[in-house]
Formats: sequence, structure tokens, C-alpha cells
Amino acid sequence: MAVKKRTPVHPDLESILFTEDQIKTRVKSLGTELKKAYGDGEFTIIAIINGAVLFTADLMREIDNPVRLDCIRISSYGEKTKSIGTPQIVHSLTLDIAKRHVLLIDDILDTGKTIALVSGLVRKLNPASLRVCVLLDKQGRREVPFEADFVGFKIPDKFVVGYGLDFAERYRNLPCIGVLKPELQNPPEWA
Ligand code: IMP
Ligand code: MG
Repeated sequence: MAVKKRTPVHPDLESILFTEDQIKTRVKSLGTELKKAYGDGEFTIIAIINGAVLFTADLMREIDNPVRLDCIRISSYGEKTKSIGTPQIVHSLTLDIAKRHVLLIDDILDTGKTIALVSGLVRKLNPASLRVCVLLDKQGRREVPFEADFVGFKIPDKFVVGYGLDFAERYRNLPCIGVLKPELQNPPEWA
């Protein structure tokens, strides 16, 4: 009798929200959505690192358009699960994006502060167009009004890790996305 394979739950996860297969399927269909929006035209991807690294790498292989890639590094969390206030640009763009179609990619849209900051900066550089794509959207947590043009999954207000998303720089390499156990969030100072 065939035994159904189940994805093992990582010991630090309370639950799995999206399995590796579910992510793959959704990323593929996001590729189709991008293709519809951009046709065969060229565009410039700006990935917000580190979180968007895995998502961007997979998504850009789902499209056959000519694309340029740049990265911007923003700090917002430190070693906590709640935003530490105003996000800061740690490393800025290197490509010229004036008159270019730009697709900004992030792992998750939470309060909206990070995307608002980066899209404001990009707009000042006069791109031909700007669209935003996020893998996850925690709509209920928005402090700055912002709607992404492409959203992988809408999720509830839970702290999630995996597939690029971290807690204190860990768990980015998990192939699934899951909710981190509450007792592992915000460890005491001596931990
Ligand atoms: P925002 O500026 O509050 O929208 O936060 C966006 C950034 O916070 C994302 O780029 C993530 O790096 C981080 N973030 C927000 N929620 C989570 C989460 O549940 N897990 C891991 N990182 C998160
Ligand atoms: Mg992060």
C-alpha cells in the first residue's frame, strides 16, 4: 500500500502555512500574472534583501522577459519580531532606473513602512512605471496604506519564517513557510 508522504514540521514551527509545493505552484502562477502585465517587454527587478532573495530567484526563473536585477538592503527588525520603527536604507541601488519599468519585490508586506520607503525612493528616480510584488501580505497590520500589484498569499497576523523570511537571521533556508512558536519569539536579552 502506498504511504502518503507528509511534510515534516520543523521543531521550531507551530504550524506550516504553505508547503514547498504550494509555494512552487503559486510562484509559477505569479510568473503568468507578470507575463500578462509586462508582455515580452524588459523590466528591472529591485529585490529588497535579504528576505526577498529566495522568492526573487524563483520568480524570475518563471518568466522569459529580459530582466535586470538590482537589490536594496533595508533594516527594520533587528533581532525582534516587531518592527523597530522607521526602516533605514543600509545599501542603496546601483542600476540607473530612469525611464525603466520597475518591479519592486519583497517577501512580506506588513506595516507597509518598508515598501512605502523604497517605492518613494524609486519614484524619485523617474522610472517609466513601478509595480510591487510581495509573496505574503499581512493586510491586518497595515500602518501606512499600501496595496501591492501582485500578492502571493494573504496571511493572518502571525510571525512567519522560512523561504527567505527570518527571525534573527535564522530559518531563511526552510523550504516551507510556517508560524514560529511563540516561546521562540523575542528571547530574553541573555539568550
Ligand atoms: P513592514 O515595513 O512593516 O511592512 O515590514 C516589512 C519587513 O518586515 C519585511 O521585509 C520583512 O523583512 C519583515 N517582516 C514582517 N513580518 C514578518 C514576519 O512575519 N516574518 C519575518 N519577517 C517579517
Ligand atoms: Mg526581514
